[in-house]
Amino acid sequence: MNSLVSIKDLPYHTVEWLLQNAESFAQYNGGALQRGTVVNLFFEPSTRTGLSFQMASHRLGLEIMDFSIEGSSIKKGESLQDTLETLDALGVDIAIIRRGDNWPAQLNLAKLRMSVVNAGSGIFEHPTQALLDALTIKQHFGRLQNLKVTIVGDIRHSRVARSNVELLTKMGAEIYFAGPAVFQAEDLTQIPRVDLDWAVQNSHVLMLLRVQLERHELAYDLVNYHKEFGLTEGRLRLLNKSAIIMHPGPVNRGVEICDAALDDPRSRVLTQVQNGVAARMAVLDWCLQGGPHDKLVSA
Ligand code: CP
Repeated sequence: MNSLVSIKDLPYHTVEWLLQNAESFAQYNGGALQRGTVVNLFFEPSTRTGLSFQMASHRLGLEIMDFSIEGSSIKKGESLQDTLETLDALGVDIAIIRRGDNWPAQLNLAKLRMSVVNAGSGIFEHPTQALLDALTIKQHFGRLQNLKVTIVGDIRHSRVARSNVELLTKMGAEIYFAGPAVFQAEDLTQIPRVDLDWAVQNSHVLMLLRVQLERHELAYDLVNYHKEFGLTEGRLRLLNKSAIIMHPGPVNRGVEICDAALDDPRSRVLTQVQNGVAARMAVLDWCLQGGPHDKLVSA
C-alpha cells in the first residue's frame, strides 16, 4: 500500500492525480467506497486535521478504530515503530500520525504492510495541508503554474510553509516569503523575501501563518506584530482584487490577520477546511489502492 509522509516523495503526476481525485471527492455525496480500518495517533492537539481525517474516513466507508495516546501502551514507553508494528499485526490498514518531532525519520516503513499518513511532523511537514491548499488555489485560478504565492509570518516554525514550498514549487508556482527576519527559516533561504506591502498588491495568493506561540517566545508584542506583519484593515484595502487570502488555521485574530480579512469575500479560510475532507479522502483512497504508485518511504 502507499504511504504519505513527505511531499518530497510525491512525483508531479501523483500530485496531479491526487488533486484530480480530490476535486471529484469535493463533489461526491454518495456512500461507502472503500473497505479498511484506520487508526488516528495524535500526540499534538488538532481540530481541522483530526476531524477531517475522521470525516474523510466515514465518507469512504472506512472503520475508525478506537485509540487514544493517553490510554495506549505508548504511555508505558512503547515506541512509535513498535506501536505501528502491533497495529499492523492487528490488521489495521492506515495509521494517521501527528507528533511534534520529525517522527517519519525514525520509522522503518519497509517493516509495515499498513500505510502511514503524516498529519503533521513538528516544524517539518504537513503534506495533506499542502494538498488541500493546492486544491483550494487550483479551484479558484484553474491552475497552479506561474501563480505568485506569498507566505507571511512564522515560517521558521511552520510545517505548513515547508510542505507548501515543496508542493507548490513542484507544481510550477512562484513562492515568496514576507514577515519578520526572526521568523525566516535557515533551511529555506532559496525562497525570495519581499516586503509585505509589495506582496499585498502583487500576489495571487496571500497565505498568512499562525504565530506559533507554543513553539517559541515571540520577539514582538502582538499589537506591533499586527501593525508590521499582519493583514490589517489598511492592507486589506490594498490587496489585489483578484487575490485570495489563505490561512491554515487556527488563527490568532488581530495578530496575523484582522477580523475583516476573515469575513472578506476573498478569504478562502473555511474553503480550506472544507477541502481538507476531499484532499484527505483522495490520500486515504490512494493509500488503500496501492497499485500504480510505489510505496513511498520517508525522506
Ligand atoms: N491546519 C491545521 O493543521 O489545523 P489543526 O491543528 O486544527 O489540525
